[in-house]
Amino acid sequence: MRFDIISCQPDLLDSPFSHSIVKRAQQKGLVDIHIHDLRKYAINKHGQIDDYAFGGGAGMVMMIEPIDRMLSDLKAEREYDAVIYMTPDGQTLNQKIVNQFSLLRNVIILCGHYKGVDERVRQHYVTHEISIGDYVLSGGELGAAVLADAIIRIIPGVLNDESSALTDSFQDGLLAPPVYTRPADYKGMTVPDILLSGDGPKIEQWRFEQAVERTRQRRPDLLNE
Ligand code: ADE
Repeated sequence: MRFDIISCQPDLLDSPFSHSIVKRAQQKGLVDIHIHDLRKYAINKHGQIDDYAFGGGAGMVMMIEPIDRMLSDLKAEREYDAVIYMTPDGQTLNQKIVNQFSLLRNVIILCGHYKGVDERVRQHYVTHEISIGDYVLSGGELGAAVLADAIIRIIPGVLNDESSALTDSFQDGLLAPPVYTRPADYKGMTVPDILLSGDGPKIEQWRFEQAVERTRQRRPDLLNE
């Protein structure tokens, strides 16, 4: 899967993609991440990509022209399945949306800044608008990193243990059950006997019951969906 991420602060995106799972996914050739500096498409030699809002008001608006030219260059090279705009007024991200995106081949992620992009960009170029939660970030970059990370980890072959993404919280509509590892007794804090019993089917049943109980207590809204 290929990601083209358009940003006016590309440095913010260096780190999230250069570690552990996401780094390995790129090394394995399963994911291709390209970060683009929107300022390369600025309208003048001062690097201008934003301007005052028509009608007045505080805050700058990202201009349509640099974005249009950047998108045209990308689209001349290949077809894109989605142009995703990161914005706090987008659809709130959840595992279902992540799963759907993970089936795509080429996606563009556009990071907003300041007061956001000229509305015509949203109307004419953007296919999906995503928020990572009901709070406002300084820009879309951290949101883009969250979105890409969540997608990448479920692409087949990215995780060594194939079943591990399938047993994540949310994947079956439930929160994940508790997990334990050695030692079985640490300063009197013990592990549930069932997990040491070696009885596979019983352990699966226990995990399922724990997942349901945890979901009922912490996120009852998930059980009603
Ligand atoms: N840009 C600013 N805030 C955001 C949010 N909550 N989600 C996605 N992009 C954003």
